[in-house]
Amino acid sequence: MEHTNEIAGQFLQRLQQSISDGRFVRLTLSKSGGQDKSFKNVYARLIELKGEAALSFTLRYATRDEVKNHPVGEGIAMVGLWLGQDFLNGTLFTLDEDISIQYSKKRRPKLFSSPASQEAPPPMAHDKHKQYFVEPDSAPYLQAMGITSAGGQVLGSGQRKFRQINKYIEIIDGLLKQQPLPENPHIVDMGSGKGYLTFALYTHLAKQPGLNPAVTGIELRQNLVDFCNGLAQQSGYSGLSFHAQDIHDFHPERIDMLIALHACDIATDIAIAKGIQAGAGIIIVAPCCHKQIRQQMHCQTDMQAILRHGILEERQAELITDGIRALLMESKGYRTKVFEFISTEHTAKNLMIVGLKGKEDGAALTKVEAIKRDYGIEYHYLERLLEGDQGV
Ligand SMILES: C[S@@+](CC[C@H](N)C(=O)[O-])C[C@H]1O[C@@H](n2cnc3c(N)ncnc32)[C@H](O)[C@@H]1O
Repeated sequence: MEHTNEIAGQFLQRLQQSISDGRFVRLTLSKSGGQDKSFKNVYARLIELKGEAALSFTLRYATRDEVKNHPVGEGIAMVGLWLGQDFLNGTLFTLDEDISIQYSKKRRPKLFSSPASQEAPPPMAHDKHKQYFVEPDSAPYLQAMGITSAGGQVLGSGQRKFRQINKYIEIIDGLLKQQPLPENPHIVDMGSGKGYLTFALYTHLAKQPGLNPAVTGIELRQNLVDFCNGLAQQSGYSGLSFHAQDIHDFHPERIDMLIALHACDIATDIAIAKGIQAGAGIIIVAPCCHKQIRQQMHCQTDMQAILRHGILEERQAELITDGIRALLMESKGYRTKVFEFISTEHTAKNLMIVGLKGKEDGAALTKVEAIKRDYGIEYHYLERLLEGDQGV
């Protein structure tokens, strides 16, 4: 153990020395070793923050990047925490040499040195202007929604919503790189509410050269639909419109991307079914409450010993509801990803299910049957909607 700490300490010392000598170029951590296998890499570079040098980390997860800046000392301590736990390899690039630390399966580290592969560090970035997917001063609807001031500054009370909007657009932007939309796509947002995310998505897509998107928000509440249509008109967003109706009664000819964020209980299932039946290339849902399966669940396995606790049964019901949703989507030819949409700092409803059209998984329905049997579930609402594809 002492030896392990000593080697890691030497690596961190070299990192510190290279920064204080102005010889640091960049640092990469790789080879995930922790429990969270979606945490893939960390990339560090030096920036200037409020006149001081700081380490800027890009934390790469399977579906998203997070950027975190730390004062140098704190940043080096972060590297120390990640190394040997979350990451088994680290490479420090300096102007003099490349230094690697590699952990064995038994988590014993070794240091390696090779001639410098980098000639010069990238110019130090400054924190003058952070790049957002949705720029606060170029999106007039944000002001009408109470997120920004007349001068285009994000208001204190709008910070959370602003971060949520940006995260959401960042995720969609990443998905569209994997599964691009066709030209003139029709995107439907089911249960669009006050329209924050619908507006952000429209303006983001409308910026893409030649895409020419049409975005439709479907929302039960007439007052919200009137507000959103008024704002879309005022803003000159000709491709954005909202309709006051139940998503159940909405039968579009074409949907290229289906979105339903925080639509209550079975409204998420109706939305998924609509997307599947319209052959949408991309389906994105963030489920909300999960009553339908909870009410039916009577566990038939030893898990009952755990599920006798109400809170655990509730969590399991959510897991099964969303897990079966993903399997049913797979049975209909979608590759699925289930991941955390935003941190619980913003909202507790933070799970996202994404389906990208691909190949059918013939075994998915058998898996659904086995799970239903184990948990004494008669039916999943989405299953009923999809049965025979007779239309929702
Ligand atoms: C929790 S809000 C989410 C709003 C928005 N998607 C967001 O994430 O900010 C859910 C919205 O879905 C609407 N809704 C629920 N069931 C619906 C249905 N069957 N048809 C249309 N809208 C529905 C509600 O009126 C509500 O505005």
